[in-house]
Amino acid sequence: MQIITVKNFTKDYGNEKGVFGVSLHVEEGEVYGYLGPNGAGKSTTLRHLMGFSKPDSGTLSINDLDSWKDKTDIKKDVGYLPGEIALPEDMTGIEYLKLIDKLRKTNDLSYANELIEYFELDTQVKIKNMSKGMKQKIAIIMAFMHDPKILLLDEPTSGLDPLMQEKFINLIKREKQKGKTIILSSHIFEEISKLCDRVGILKKGKLIKEVVMADLRHTKNKTYKIEFKNENDFNKIRDLYPSDVFKADKNQAIISIVDEEINSLISNLSSCDLLFLKEEKHTLEDYFMKFYGDEENV
Ligand SMILES: Nc1ncnc2c1ncn2[C@@H]1O[C@H](COP(=O)(O)OP(=O)(O)OP(=O)(O)O)[C@@H](O)[C@H]1O
Ligand SMILES: [Mg+2]
Repeated sequence: MQIITVKNFTKDYGNEKGVFGVSLHVEEGEVYGYLGPNGAGKSTTLRHLMGFSKPDSGTLSINDLDSWKDKTDIKKDVGYLPGEIALPEDMTGIEYLKLIDKLRKTNDLSYANELIEYFELDTQVKIKNMSKGMKQKIAIIMAFMHDPKILLLDEPTSGLDPLMQEKFINLIKREKQKGKTIILSSHIFEEISKLCDRVGILKKGKLIKEVVMADLRHTKNKTYKIEFKNENDFNKIRDLYPSDVFKADKNQAIISIVDEEINSLISNLSSCDLLFLKEEKHTLEDYFMKFYGDEENV
């Protein structure tokens, strides 16, 4: 069942800034990673899902409610963690969380208290005297404390130290087990790879790629870098693998194959004089980094 649906969403801020014709959906219980360079339009999409602003065209909906027209009802079952947090400076952490609880009419601080302890947050401190990480923890608790079925999290671990980032990852794993539907915008590949079922990559306001993380984790593609001692062998292999990368000045080849092709590659290389053969490791970071570069589509 689709819980979050974005259809042809456009918000044009002028000068090619904004979001242009983005369509995506998130299934019930799914964790969807929203990835992309600064200014790509991630926060804009999440803000429009929350109904803070009207789209120029297209529709955004959560639980079959229109984000703009039904913006009051939508908020009841959604926890939103904004990318930029603005909190009332003169309140203490606990005063603010109590106020949120009152405004939401939830009258239940039990999960908030659990999370305060979990994140080791001193809530007696005035917000103006809190560190960046402490404020981020308040925002996290605010998003989670009413136990909403849907979570929209905009760079949730920004400002958290590595230990707290790990705690946050474990919290999301627990929430996922409870069946929550989550969008997580992030620049941290490790976070994305540990948590997400699918990832959408946004660039210059357009969704340029969607990836099923399980496919990426179990990819059977391997890349080998080979340097030949002589040009003849180099040329022979180039003829056999015309679509791969060959650097004639160095007699080097970068050949990508699926695992089943390894025997034929070894047999083709067996008659060649090699200087080296090594497997190039692909990390998830390598995979995602190419989308951050200048090429339009990879
Ligand atoms: N209210 C606004 N008025 C004008 N331009 C805006 C407005 N909101 C966002 N933009 C522009 O739209 C683009 C997308 O911004 P957005 O904040 O959605 O990016 P982002 O993907 O969240 O980036 P980051 O990774 O830096 O958080 C940017 O170029 C931004 O300057
Ligand atoms: Mg943002």
